[in-house]
Amino acid sequence: MASPPPNGGSDPTRAKPDRNLALELARVTEAAALAAAPLVGMGDKEAADQAAVDGMRHMLHSVQMDGVVVIGEGEKDEAPMLYNGEHIGDGSPPQVDIAVDPLEGTELAANGMPSALAVIALSERGAMFNPGPCVYMEKLAGAPEIADLLDLDRPLADTVRLIAERRGCAVEEVMVVVLDRPRHKEGIEAIRNAGARVRLILHGDVSAALLAVTERSRVDLLWGIGGTPEGVITAAAIKCLGGQILGRLWPRNDHERQAALDAGYDLDRVLDRDDLVAGDDVFFSATGITDGDVLQGVRYPTLGGATTESLVMRTRSGTVRRIRATHDRAKLRSLRGGRL
Ligand code: FBP
Repeated sequence: MASPPPNGGSDPTRAKPDRNLALELARVTEAAALAAAPLVGMGDKEAADQAAVDGMRHMLHSVQMDGVVVIGEGEKDEAPMLYNGEHIGDGSPPQVDIAVDPLEGTELAANGMPSALAVIALSERGAMFNPGPCVYMEKLAGAPEIADLLDLDRPLADTVRLIAERRGCAVEEVMVVVLDRPRHKEGIEAIRNAGARVRLILHGDVSAALLAVTERSRVDLLWGIGGTPEGVITAAAIKCLGGQILGRLWPRNDHERQAALDAGYDLDRVLDRDDLVAGDDVFFSATGITDGDVLQGVRYPTLGGATTESLVMRTRSGTVRRIRATHDRAKLRSLRGGRL
């Protein structure tokens, strides 16, 4: 009798389980969160960011892959590193694009405020949208049951009414999470005038989007102009969790508009989650740094100990894991060096 082909041939039910990189990424975001945690509340966002980058970089070297940073921490030779275009890993397969935000919410962490995260996403090579010179995009994100109602060209007032109708609730029950910025003044008024509520956040629209796409959460919709890199990272998460994000590039000034046009970006195009991260093999991990709606932050329950909580996911299998870990900081310190 012929033995079955190693990957089960064309019968997907017989395919051998393959490596789930997301599980390895959990160690990467844990390392970033543990490294940043001692600086939470210390008022120095650069130092906290640098610590997270160092922690993430150290552990990333343990992941066997041929990775290129598409969404990173800026340009080469500019602190704090993990720069765009950097090659990460030992060069062995798989070939992947990498998006990192070792400390999403630098000010939140520096001021000891909720919802700072360490985040990483991986996709097949060439699958991630490269933001280029485009710092901001307008975003709309929501859970699967309202995904088809998202439309960046429809007035926000109409969208919140449609959401209420779909959910079978009063419009007064709809909650939209929005970054507290002067540029959102009109949008916030439109939402409130329609009768819906607004939850303002100071920073952290990745965490806010994760909350918005979670069914039966306290938030129905994320709207507003935020970081384009954060939009790509959010799209990777949403591809795993379900739901939708729409984004449209939002140049801050004429110079940025021209730079984007010169680089070939279409500023009118509405990008959905599959435009922001194409493909069907996306891996995502986030670890809480400070306590938030989505993840618990790093805690020190015992002298020398620490706990972390991570959200670890993959599109192909659709598995969403929450990993709670306890860490021995003295042992980790001796293994890694540095401050933990
Ligand atoms: P940092 O972690 O780089 O500080 O970014 C936090 C953040 O609030 C993001 O979540 C958001 O997308 C972006 O900044 C908004 O940018 P800005 O603060 O310039 O409005």
